[in-house]
Amino acid sequence: MSKLKTSKFGLGLAAGAMALGLSTAGIAAEHASGFNGIGKNITDKAIEPWDISVFYDGENLPKGSGTVEAGQDPYDTQCAMCHGAFGEGAEGYPKMAGDPMPQFIESLKQGLDGVGNRGVNNAWGHAPTLFDMIKRHMPFYAPGTMGVDESYAVTCYVLNLANIVDYEFTCSNETMADVKMPAADYYVTDTRPDTDNQRCMSDCYDYEPKVVGAAVTGVSE
Ligand code: HEC
Repeated sequence: MSKLKTSKFGLGLAAGAMALGLSTAGIAAEHASGFNGIGKNITDKAIEPWDISVFYDGENLPKGSGTVEAGQDPYDTQCAMCHGAFGEGAEGYPKMAGDPMPQFIESLKQGLDGVGNRGVNNAWGHAPTLFDMIKRHMPFYAPGTMGVDESYAVTCYVLNLANIVDYEFTCSNETMADVKMPAADYYVTDTRPDTDNQRCMSDCYDYEPKVVGAAVTGVSE
């Protein structure tokens, strides 16, 4: 997680600098020795509430647990109105349980509407990210209002609706990464960097670069 924290920290600094009307260029250097006595370094404790991203392999799952049984009540009161009591979808909102995997792949091949047949049993690669999405994003009208244990429970209930875990299963920071999602094999982790290119900041062209305006004028002339 240190990588993530570093980048968030970097963003915070840049935003702070802009708020102060300063150029961001000198900030990185200033940071090491403190910023001219202005402000203070952000602490790990202050970052903690924001540092909630969970990775597909279970990294950063918060400590806690919830059973399928415990998830029924919160699901019925906070989710069923949109996703259906049995996960069948309601009022045009997505299903929790979609077509079984082979059938889903077949309809995609035939060019049929994949979205209407989608569910966590065919379009979700990893249980930890399902938990993450539910905890931070659902219920739709009040995202982020469920606690950790409640989010584990409701995720477990959804996984059970979609026939992925049985009724006795307990979802927790220790079990989520081992849940085998039916669509797992269709998800590939691309570990390549976003780009290999190094950013060029000076003497980047060995020719006179054309600016778009000039190029367009050239065409119309
Ligand atoms: C007011 C309607 C509404 C409620 C209530 C609601 N959701 Fe959703 N949900 C949506 C919509 C809309 C989407 C799709 C758009 C999106 O992901 O932002 C969605 C998407 C999802 C998905 C992803 C489905 C997929 O196939 O990608 C899951 C899982 C989910 N919701 C779970 C829940 C859970 C669990 C609750 C209760 C805690 C809940 N939702 C409450 C409207 C709702």
